[in-house]
Amino acid sequence: MDTDCTSILVVDDEAVIRDLMTEILTEEGYDVEAARDGLHALECLRERPDFAMLFTDIMMPEMDGIELIREARHVSPDVIPIVMTGHATLETARAAVKEGAYDYVLKPFSIGEIRVAIDNALERHRLLRENARLRDLKQTFRISETIAAIHEEDHLLDFVLHASLEHVEAARGSIMLTTENGQALQVAISVGLPDEAKDAVVPYGKSIAGWVAEHSLPLCIQNIQDSPELVKLSRRLKDHSFISLPLEHNLMLDTYTSKPNTRSKPHVIAVLNVSQKKDGFLFTDGDLKALSIVAKHASVALENVHLLKDLESAHLDTLKSMALVLEAKDPYTHGHSERVRNYSVAAGIQLGMPSKDVETMRLGAMLHDVGKIGVSDAILNKVEPLIYAEWEAIKLHPVVGYDVLAPVGFLKPEHLALVRSHHERLDGSGYPDGLREGAIDDRVRVLAVADTYDAMSGDRAYRKGLSAEEIVDELRFCAHDKLDPEVVALFIHMIESGEIHRYRDLELKPDK
Ligand SMILES: [Fe+2]
Repeated sequence: MDTDCTSILVVDDEAVIRDLMTEILTEEGYDVEAARDGLHALECLRERPDFAMLFTDIMMPEMDGIELIREARHVSPDVIPIVMTGHATLETARAAVKEGAYDYVLKPFSIGEIRVAIDNALERHRLLRENARLRDLKQTFRISETIAAIHEEDHLLDFVLHASLEHVEAARGSIMLTTENGQALQVAISVGLPDEAKDAVVPYGKSIAGWVAEHSLPLCIQNIQDSPELVKLSRRLKDHSFISLPLEHNLMLDTYTSKPNTRSKPHVIAVLNVSQKKDGFLFTDGDLKALSIVAKHASVALENVHLLKDLESAHLDTLKSMALVLEAKDPYTHGHSERVRNYSVAAGIQLGMPSKDVETMRLGAMLHDVGKIGVSDAILNKVEPLIYAEWEAIKLHPVVGYDVLAPVGFLKPEHLALVRSHHERLDGSGYPDGLREGAIDDRVRVLAVADTYDAMSGDRAYRKGLSAEEIVDELRFCAHDKLDPEVVALFIHMIESGEIHRYRDLELKPDK
């Protein structure tokens, strides 16, 4: 006997049939319970989720066998239904099979017929389960493969949530990330949540997700009402059935050796929540197992994303230091990169550029003159007018900067374009590539004006900084032919209103 099939629920409005079936099946070694009608049967299924099989009559008052099978799938999705019927309702029995019944037995039936029906149903159930498991495995494998290939946090969270919802056929869900202090969770991405819950911050221990984070344990709840201790935590939860499970940091690297730190304990970095299974079904242990695999892969991927971010930021700090060290040698250009960054970011925001472009400028502007590392100090700090060869040496700095930064993996072509092209001019008179008009993108146009403004406004070894009027005249002169007129107009407005001084030492941060 299959150990999964120890308990059978018999449903019939006729006491004689109930007693007979109970006697037969008990003698066969099954654990049998009997219900007098459909409603009573659903109650039994709710109380005992371990029923493996449901033998039901078709013609019953209030709720017939077909309706019971339909309802039972919501209460106990894994139960195997078999219908018992007389000849008169054979067609109905066939309809019941269409609704999900595994088989039917005709009254009056023999013990042998019951045995065959049970064995057939079990075999069919086993095959169906095997197929479903295989399908699940294949799907989970595909999801895991994709997760491993994503290296960007927002994209990763978006994919994990949508793949999880699709996999367990749920309509509502979220991923909450642990906040920096490690004491609360904040919704990072959601589907189907009401507006007020979209940015919710939940302390550990409060709400279902907070409980999962605090205990670092997964929950698969079929009906929250069955768990009074969880009901208290779930006041805002609309769904009775849900899965909530933690994503954990497992591999902690030692800061100094970069090797796995075996002493550190895993800790929760996020919680994945899904609810509202489609068609009113309940979540099963199979759903939990599948999501646990997805969550494991997501944890590793998220951990990698964070490590990569740390590495990138360390690398970035080195590059920024390079730019600052370079400027430190020359009192006249000290702070130039930071000021150009501040002007570019402020202008980008005022011009209504997409925040992605503003962020590209924030970094690109900071690095735009890194190539001056390849120009001798004697030329950079020369007081007298430059001779032709010296001028040519200076003009190499955008290309040197580009070559130095091109191998840096996390810098995108847009960043490199800012470094390479910030001395290009609309009429093609710039360097190093002599680009014209449409070949110079918007970010480069903004950086070019910011760079020109800072160069004109600061003192040089060979001249004092220009006055506001002189700068405005010069910018007006350059607009159209050399510099973008719209950007120039904005800078003139900022200069004439005095607003530009505010940005000199102020780095505007992105809106969050
Ligand atoms: Fe430059």
